[in-house]
Amino acid sequence: MARFCVTGGCGFIGSHLSAALIARGHSVRVLDDLSTGSRANLAPGAALLRGDIADPADARAAMDGVDGCFHLAAIASVERGVQDWPGTHRVNLSGTVAILDAARAHRVPVVYASSAAVYGDGPVLPIPEDAPTRPLSAYGADKLGCEQHARVAGAVHGIPTLGLRFFNVFGPRQDPRSPYSGVISIFCDRLVRGNAVEVFGDGEQTRDFVYVGDVVAALLAAMPAASTAAPVLNLCTGQPTSVRALAATVAALCGTPLTLNHRPPRAGEIRHSLGAPDRAREALGLATPTSLRDGLAEVVAWLKAGSPGLAVPAGEPSV
Ligand code: NAD
Ligand code: UD1
Repeated sequence: MARFCVTGGCGFIGSHLSAALIARGHSVRVLDDLSTGSRANLAPGAALLRGDIADPADARAAMDGVDGCFHLAAIASVERGVQDWPGTHRVNLSGTVAILDAARAHRVPVVYASSAAVYGDGPVLPIPEDAPTRPLSAYGADKLGCEQHARVAGAVHGIPTLGLRFFNVFGPRQDPRSPYSGVISIFCDRLVRGNAVEVFGDGEQTRDFVYVGDVVAALLAAMPAASTAAPVLNLCTGQPTSVRALAATVAALCGTPLTLNHRPPRAGEIRHSLGAPDRAREALGLATPTSLRDGLAEVVAWLKAGSPGLAVPAGEPSV
């Protein structure tokens, strides 16, 4: 049994990961400020340290005595980085440096969430890890900064790391109530209740949607692969889906007629995001990913069950 710190463990991905670690007999300390996460998401058996990753004292307290850290806490919305550039930078980049600094004393391995947003609009699709990185958003620039600091952590301080460039992750417990939430959670929540959905731009932009269960499997496999060479790997399926096609699929699954309301495109958006999954599959021994349809069925079932884990049931907007 090992002891792990999970930053952002009250959020969407972190809550699934914490539960999986506990199910494997490990102990989990969560560091979370509950800004987008919720106490109701905390995995039974995990200890919660309510604090800020960018506060060095909180970061040190969370990392004290652990065998490894899964660093997932961040402001995950690209759009929020457009609205609040310095505020998201403080959390997304300074917060990561604080966690890496707290890992220094005992060279605690850190597996962290990077993002497909580091690529910007890739010249080649699907995008391999060695494609040029040209982020279009503050969020993507900060995630690229995390990767650079992870390299420094390995080379200068001997800290093993591994960064996973998540593409668009979806699944139960992704909170649909904020306008900054992921598109799948918003579309499923609206269409389950028979409402119209909003599409930013023409809806022909594409994303590579990866199911949260597959992300957890990759995170678990990544910890023993962390090294001072600071590897980064894509976490994706290699399957593109347009926003319009997504809306149609969810509507069909819910048995709801589809009404699309078009809005202007978002600033700082990538047009096509599609990853090459092969390196991660090989390096981490990953299984065939869950299909979009199977994953969407899980989200719809979770919403119909009253969205357990959310402090307030979905469908009651909090923002
Ligand atoms: P989430 O918002 O559900 O979870 C993030 C958690 O971090 C929340 O519980 C929040 O309260 C916490 N948090 C935020 N700021 C904090 C701070 N200053 N101190 C402590 N805790 C703080 O988001 P998620 O979708 O679970 O994302 C997890 C990670 O994966 C993030 O790093 C995100 O950037 C990355 N990522 C997510 C996706 C995706 O599609 N969801 C894709 C690529 C990368
Ligand atoms: C998402 C993640 C980000 C991650 C990135 C990696 C969230 C909130 N963001 O960003 O953390 O790093 O993937 O690829 O999970 N859209 C609509 N209508 C809506 C909502 C969204 O049309 O109501 C569109 C957006 O304009 C965008 C697409 O759907 O084109 C996906 O948006 P979103 O789910 O917010 O994710 P990304 O911006 O791709």
